[in-house]
Amino acid sequence: MEKKYLRGLFISFVLLSGIVFIVSTRLTDTAKGQDTENGIHLRGTMAQQIGEYPDTMALDGVGVKNLDDGFFELHLDPENDTGLMFSRFSVDQYRLDADTVLNDAEITIIFPLFGSPVPEALADYWQGGIAEDIFLHGDTGQEAPIIPKVWSEVATWGPALVFIDGQQITGVEQILGVPNRFDALFGHVMYSSNPRDAQTGFVPNASGDAPFSPARPADYQPVVQEASVINMLVRSEEIDDNAFPAFSLLLHFDFLDVVPIEPLPDVEYLTYDMLETVDVESAVTQWLSLVDDTAALVAEIESPDEPDAVASNDSAAGTTVSFAEDIQPIFQTRCVFCHGPESIVGSPPNGLQLDTYENVILGSSFLPDVIPGDPDNSTLMIMLRTGTMPALGDPLSEDEINLIAEWIRAGAPNN
Ligand code: HEC
Repeated sequence: MEKKYLRGLFISFVLLSGIVFIVSTRLTDTAKGQDTENGIHLRGTMAQQIGEYPDTMALDGVGVKNLDDGFFELHLDPENDTGLMFSRFSVDQYRLDADTVLNDAEITIIFPLFGSPVPEALADYWQGGIAEDIFLHGDTGQEAPIIPKVWSEVATWGPALVFIDGQQITGVEQILGVPNRFDALFGHVMYSSNPRDAQTGFVPNASGDAPFSPARPADYQPVVQEASVINMLVRSEEIDDNAFPAFSLLLHFDFLDVVPIEPLPDVEYLTYDMLETVDVESAVTQWLSLVDDTAALVAEIESPDEPDAVASNDSAAGTTVSFAEDIQPIFQTRCVFCHGPESIVGSPPNGLQLDTYENVILGSSFLPDVIPGDPDNSTLMIMLRTGTMPALGDPLSEDEINLIAEWIRAGAPNN
C-alpha cells in the first residue's frame, strides 16, 4: 500500500513541477506585448482515442483508435491566464476505469478556469496558468516523461468538467484549498508537435525500433518545432497503481486536424476572483449550450450533404468487427500481461499468447484456442463465457464477449 501511494505522489510531483517552468516562461513572455484581444483560438477535429484504462498512454500504439466525430475548441488568453476550452466526442467502446466500460457514450469536457486562487498553495504550479512556446515532457524536466519531448505552442492545466451522456462525473471536493464548485477533475491540454505516428499511434524511440519508454526519457525522435496536434488529458485525483499513468480514471484524446478559428463572441472568461460569486448552475448551462451549438456547427462543416451521413450510419450498423480495432485492444488490456511476451503462461507452442494476431490463431499446444467460424467450440470463447478467463479482474462485459464471438464467427479475419 505504501509503495502504491509513493508512486502516485511521485507522479503528481513530476506533473506539478512542470508548471514551475511555465511560470518563468510566462514572466518573460509578458514583455512581448499586450495583444490580449486576440489570444489563441483553435479548433481540433479528427479525434483520436489514445488507449484506455489501464494503459492510457498506449506508447506502443495498441489501443489508439480514430473516432468518427469529435472536436476540441480552444480559446486562450495567455496574457491574463484566462480562457475557455471545450470538447465533445463519442466513443463506441471505452474502458473508463477498473469498473466501467462505456458503450456508445458521448463525452463532453469543459475547461473554464486557469491560474491559481491561492498563491501560497503550490503557487508556482498554478500561477502560470497558460504557457506559450515551450518544450515539455521527455527529458526536459517539465511535466512527466510519459511521452517524449514535444514542442508546445500553448499548454495549460486546469479544472475540467466531464460529462458522460450528460451526467457529470464528480471530481474532488477542493481545488487547492478552495471549494470545487464545479465538481471538476483536472486536465492538461497542449497544442504541440505530435510524438506519435498519426496513423498507427506508435510513439517511437530515437532509433524507431521500439516504443518510447518513460524509463529512458532522452531516447526520442528529433522534435519538430511546429505544433500540429491538440493533446488532452483529464484525470482523477485518486491514484491507481494498476494504471499508467497511475490515476483511477484518465481520459486521453488527441485532435489531429487543427485550424485557427474566430474568437467566441460575447463570452466572459471566468477568473478565480469571480469563483465565489458566480452562479455555477447558469454558468454550466451556458457552457453546455455553447458546446451544443459548436457541435452542430462542426457537424455541418464535416458532412454538408445528408446522403453521405446516412450512408456512413448504415455501414456502421453492419457487422464488420475489426481485429486490430476491436479485439486486440481487449486482449491487450485484459490478457496480455499474462498471455504475452513476458507472460506467466510461457511461449507458444506450450502457452497461449494473445499479443499478436498470429499468436492468437496459433493457440497453445493443447488446443487451437480460436476455431475460425465456430465461436461455440472455441476454447477461448468457452473460457470467456464461463468467466474462467481472464484469470484476474472482472469477467469481460457481455458486449466485449459478443464482439469476440462475432469476430470468430466471421472467420477470425486479420482485419
Ligand atoms: C492473471 C493471468 C491471466 C490473465 C489476466 C488471463 N489469463 Fe488466460 N490463462 C492463464 C493461465 C495461467 C492459463 C493456463 C496456462 C495456459 O494454458 O497457457 C490460462 C489459460 C487460458 C486459455 C487456455 C489456453 C490453452 O490452450 O490451454 C485461454 C483460451 C485463455 N487463458 C484466454 C484468456 C483470455 C482471452 C484472457 C483475457 C480476456 C485471459 N486468458 C487472461 C492466465 C491468465
